[in-house]
Amino acid sequence: MVTLPHSPILAPSLLAGDHANLAASAAVVADNGLRWLHLDLMDGHFVPNLTFGPETLAALRRAGSKLFFDTHLMLAEPQRYIAAFAKAGANLISIHIEPDSDHAGTLAEIRRLGCQCGIVLNPGTPAEAVRHLLDQVDLVLVMTVQPGFGGQSFQPAMLDKLAQLDRWRRESGATWRLEVDGGIDVNHARECRAAGADTFVAGTAFYKARDRAAFAAEVEGLA
Ligand code: DX5
Ligand code: ZN
Repeated sequence: MVTLPHSPILAPSLLAGDHANLAASAAVVADNGLRWLHLDLMDGHFVPNLTFGPETLAALRRAGSKLFFDTHLMLAEPQRYIAAFAKAGANLISIHIEPDSDHAGTLAEIRRLGCQCGIVLNPGTPAEAVRHLLDQVDLVLVMTVQPGFGGQSFQPAMLDKLAQLDRWRRESGATWRLEVDGGIDVNHARECRAAGADTFVAGTAFYKARDRAAFAAEVEGLA
């Protein structure tokens, strides 16, 4: 077995937390010994749903959260909002490849603002679409469901895309993280890990777990 560059990280998605009590839902993540929190930002244009905005991140910081804010922008025009998210306390900001824009410029701007940057692919988008950006990202996020809603079923066809991206990463000696998002439970996390993933977003599976600590330990303990 070839060793992957990073040990596994579980990033619970706050989307599946209690929206009347987001600070408490974020605190649960830290209380379970986890370091990352995944924040899903939706604009009703790029995806047919709405969530929260930069002020929510700022409020979580004011409430004391020290988690690494893994910020997933599902926005038609992310370049208009990255400064606000950086100021609000994002640590990593990911943008989708599908909206037509200056992706390279936006990724560079995210770094200039002091954050790590990531590029995201929808299930229908091939790995080739982001190949030209792989030398300027800290993370590649492969959506394993169509973005917009939590609680959907994992799409196994995404495993080949992960394996392709992982091959390119090995060939180039790059160290960006390879993240999966959508329908991830322990079994799917294991399959994705075998295909090269090292960062696992889980909304439903984490917040609805009978034993969250056990779930976290299983995912972050994957070989
Ligand atoms: C979907 C979001 C996901 C979602 C995952 O658009 O990007 O982060 O919260 O939720 P589950 O784990 O329930 O599929
Ligand atoms: Zn997400």
